[in-house]
Amino acid sequence: MSLLIRNGEIVTVGSRTRADIFVENETVTRIAKNLEVPAGVEVIDAAGKLVFPGFIDPHVHIYLPFMATFAKDTHETASIAALIGGTTTYIEMCCPNRNDDALAGYQLWKSKAEGHSACDCAFHMSVTKFVQETEAQLRQIVADGTASFKIFLAYKNFFGVDDGEMYQTLELAKRLGVIVTAHCENAELVARLQQKLLAEGKSGPEWHEPSRPELVEAEGTGRFATFLETTGATGYVVHLSCEKALQAALAAKSRGVRIHVESVLPHFLLDKTFAERPGIEGMKHVMSPPLRDKKNQAVLWNGVATGAIDTVGTDHCPFDTGQKLLGKDSFVNIPNGIPGIEDRVNLLYTFGVKRGRLDLDRFVDAASTRAAKLFGLFPRKGTIAVGSDADLVVYDPEYRGVICAKSQHVNNDYNAFEGLQIEGRPSVVTVRGKVQVRDGKFIGDRGRGRFLKREPSHF
Ligand code: URP
Ligand code: ZN
Ligand code: ZN
Repeated sequence: MSLLIRNGEIVTVGSRTRADIFVENETVTRIAKNLEVPAGVEVIDAAGKLVFPGFIDPHVHIYLPFMATFAKDTHETASIAALIGGTTTYIEMCCPNRNDDALAGYQLWKSKAEGHSACDCAFHMSVTKFVQETEAQLRQIVADGTASFKIFLAYKNFFGVDDGEMYQTLELAKRLGVIVTAHCENAELVARLQQKLLAEGKSGPEWHEPSRPELVEAEGTGRFATFLETTGATGYVVHLSCEKALQAALAAKSRGVRIHVESVLPHFLLDKTFAERPGIEGMKHVMSPPLRDKKNQAVLWNGVATGAIDTVGTDHCPFDTGQKLLGKDSFVNIPNGIPGIEDRVNLLYTFGVKRGRLDLDRFVDAASTRAAKLFGLFPRKGTIAVGSDADLVVYDPEYRGVICAKSQHVNNDYNAFEGLQIEGRPSVVTVRGKVQVRDGKFIGDRGRGRFLKREPSHF
């Protein structure tokens, strides 16, 4: 299968050039002006369009048994939504809980993805306990191509690990050359604050944020950093939401700790007043770490612009309104999560690039290239270069539209970004050279996605 993308403005980290891209056998084979190609080759006219490397979402939940229910998407629905929004690769959190066998969990998560995804995918393997068989199992999982771990300092007695288990995970990760991603909130403080607020009769969604205040996240981030410093491991803070936590991460970085930072779409555009709306409207906006005071948003945008925040993911985690109502009597039972896989690129482009908060270079880096580098996918993914997979997004900066749950492809009955205007969207999206999306419609092969094997990076 050959494809020519003609005359687009190709944007990669460090370069912007108007040229043609020729694709053969799933990879980019030539980039030059006025390429001559054999007759019969499919040609896409990209004049007036930007051409980006396929975007990478480094943090999604698709199969997720959590808080007495299951996240709504399947790999089929999530990958189609991802592709329509320009994301051609996602990394899913594989999340067996403390009572599950890790290896059986890994195989289960893989079986949910393989053959069912329209885009390429990989996993971060959650370590939710550290017992006798854990090291051997993790070695097997890394050998299978899943070369990144996840730990939760929150969600006590479910996903959460204690400090001893965090130490053991980081120490093993250091020996294996594997990066460890971490949800950084102090589980004990969250549990105590939840009990206190409920005892005071404070049970609505507006109390979710006060039960996990910024200090609780800053403590988790600082403690994770201290454990990285002690073990020499490399870490990645997921879904960082506020200035205090960013300061903790940057203080560690300035001491030489190998710590990277991700923030996620909701924290840039939504604030805690959304979760303070009465009833179900508030519940729709419950996630952890919670939506914060609006003043943090400028800090996060600036963090991405300067590179202090490496990546922008989604923490895509869809629960519908019926599921959110599990928490109608107590905020501690509201399933945590906000979906975003379909809207991340367009919202980041609109509210980042178009509003002058991000240059195109950082946009591409934060939404694609940096994740590829950190998680062992570069240069196969995350750039447009001869030899790279032909995951390409022909982007129309003139498109105008409005985010709307009724027309979304994510399997959910609401959209937390409802009504926001977007100024740009992908007009063509390819996965390894095959056109999967045209003008907001999925027209491709539902089973095209592949599991991406990754090697340890030996940071
Ligand atoms: O609220 C969230 N973030 N839900 C998904 C689980 C997690 O903590 O990432
Ligand atoms: Zn989390
Ligand atoms: Zn998550």
